[in-house]
Amino acid sequence: MHFNRRSSILLASGLASHVLAANVSTLATRLKAISADVFPDLKDIAVDIWNNPEIGLDEHHAHDLVVDYFTTQRPGEWIVTPHAFGMPTAWRLEFEFTVPARSPNTPLPVIGFMSEYDALVGIGHACGHNHIALNGLAAASMARQAVIDLGIPARIVLMGTPDEESEAGKHTLLEAGAFDGVDVWFMAHPTSTSAVQPMNARINAIANFRGGSHNDVVRSAYEALVAVSDRAAAGLPGTSSTAVAVEDVGMFECNIVQSQISLGINGSSLETVQQTVSSILDSTFPGVTFTATLDSDGGVNLTSFGPGGHASDSTKGPLVLTVKTFQALSSQQGVTFYLPGNTTATALDITFDIRSRFTLDLDSVLDVVTATVGNLAASISTDTVYPALEVTPFIPDVFINLLKTPDYGSQTNWGISTFAPASTDASWLQGAVVDPTTKALIGADRVVFHPNFGICPPGTAHCAFNHEPPFRDLAGTDFSYTQTEIVARALAQIAVELLNDPVMMANATAILGN
Ligand SMILES: *[C@@H]1O[C@H](CO)[C@@H](O)[C@H](O)[C@H]1NC(C)=O
Ligand SMILES: *[C@@H]1O[C@H](CO)[C@@H](O)[C@H](O)[C@H]1NC(C)=O
Ligand SMILES: *[C@@H]1O[C@H](CO)[C@@H](O)[C@H](O)[C@H]1NC(C)=O
Ligand SMILES: *[C@@H]1O[C@H](CO)[C@@H](O)[C@H](O)[C@H]1NC(C)=O
Ligand SMILES: *[C@@H]1O[C@H](CO)[C@@H](O)[C@H](O)[C@H]1NC(C)=O
Repeated sequence: MHFNRRSSILLASGLASHVLAANVSTLATRLKAISADVFPDLKDIAVDIWNNPEIGLDEHHAHDLVVDYFTTQRPGEWIVTPHAFGMPTAWRLEFEFTVPARSPNTPLPVIGFMSEYDALVGIGHACGHNHIALNGLAAASMARQAVIDLGIPARIVLMGTPDEESEAGKHTLLEAGAFDGVDVWFMAHPTSTSAVQPMNARINAIANFRGGSHNDVVRSAYEALVAVSDRAAAGLPGTSSTAVAVEDVGMFECNIVQSQISLGINGSSLETVQQTVSSILDSTFPGVTFTATLDSDGGVNLTSFGPGGHASDSTKGPLVLTVKTFQALSSQQGVTFYLPGNTTATALDITFDIRSRFTLDLDSVLDVVTATVGNLAASISTDTVYPALEVTPFIPDVFINLLKTPDYGSQTNWGISTFAPASTDASWLQGAVVDPTTKALIGADRVVFHPNFGICPPGTAHCAFNHEPPFRDLAGTDFSYTQTEIVARALAQIAVELLNDPVMMANATAILGN
């Protein structure tokens, strides 16, 4: 869908002319005072979310925390909709402020914020979504109080959006109309470095290995892993494309590279397995270790351990070591492979996490992976696409310049980057249209501003990245909460300025007219 909203914005600014714009010159100071009032309670909610991680679509505690707080502690401030748009763990807060001098027929400018609060299987808030929840809650609350104090007619929406990680919760909400009627959407994501940057397109291809004996199924799955990793090493179509495999066993989630994988090897000796793994495991496998032991299934249980991490990382982890060991031993006469402890299973699934810088290239990468797996798999299915998120013009410069000011911590380390570190389902709202040749952004369904902010204290030698277990600890530090307060306050400032200034709003939403 691709619609034109510019005409309604110009109409709004024209009819609003008899309501004078507010003087926002002291807004930054005012927002600091508002933050001192609203932030501590909201931080408590985020800390509670961090302490009680829930995976996507199961965020009932997080849902209830927010709904209960605004219903009982701040009654009447917002229209609170629990279980919004038919999603049990979605919620919506909405607020409207108008002034008597304003024509009742004039549409109010509307700013939306988004909160996420889903965690990761087994590793808690290692993506820091407790901060995305807090950022939305804090920015919306600060903007609300500021428009009241300054007398700026406005509507503010805050959407609580479930399951960013696995099933694209925002896609479900989009289809239900949750993102309609808002001029600009804001959210912010904690990570290892601060940047306004695009996000990759993503799709998962889930290959099912079935048929034959247990040994046959394990061999087919690992042959497919070898084939795809060789194909990826030879170069995939598109820009910065990756196809990272995750074996769907144990603590499985489609976009986390597991920190432990076991493969059983039968018909070889313990010494041969140990020597083979040791010859492969070099310094290109950071932090990876292994154990090899004779087990009760009659073979060698090879278990590799490593940091795990984000499926957008092409870091060599435990599964890569296991695949290379399979490759080295699979041609030997009489060697078979099995899953330690599961030697009767005749079903094994592998998820290929496929990413590419531009949505336009995603299908061709998927086609290559599918063709490479070929007949080794009984079937291959795909999940929800995450289109690429593009950087929209105008707001990024306003934001980066604001963060350089002393009120926002004199942060000079922000830039607009072309590097896409991961994916987001906020891309579904944006609906970016990219020129097929130049790849430049030429249109969008909605304006979405989605900066990524660093939560590593300055001077940290190595900052963990999202989905690595140590990132969970980072997302619980005082420093991370301080950073979120600053980013939320900056987003609130820009939101209030947009609501107050029709020319600035027209600039920010100009992309919609294309
Ligand atoms: C806005 O307020 C500031 C601070 O009170 C004042 O210095 C400035 O003159 C005002 N601007 C306008 C256009 O009224
Ligand atoms: C073995 O089976 C259990 C129970 O079905 C499952 O949770 C686990 O992931 C399996 N492990 C492997 C290595 O297949
Ligand atoms: C390993 O090989 C032995 C000898 O052929 C066989 O008895 C045993 O069942 C095999 N174990 C597995 C897990 O394949
Ligand atoms: C295989 O070895 C790993 C690492 O020692 C261990 O955690 C796992 O339980 C073993 N599997 C079986 C089936 O013994
Ligand atoms: C905003 O739009 C106006 C009118 O089109 C233009 O004159 C101005 O330069 C724009 N401002 C910025 C910062 O882009």
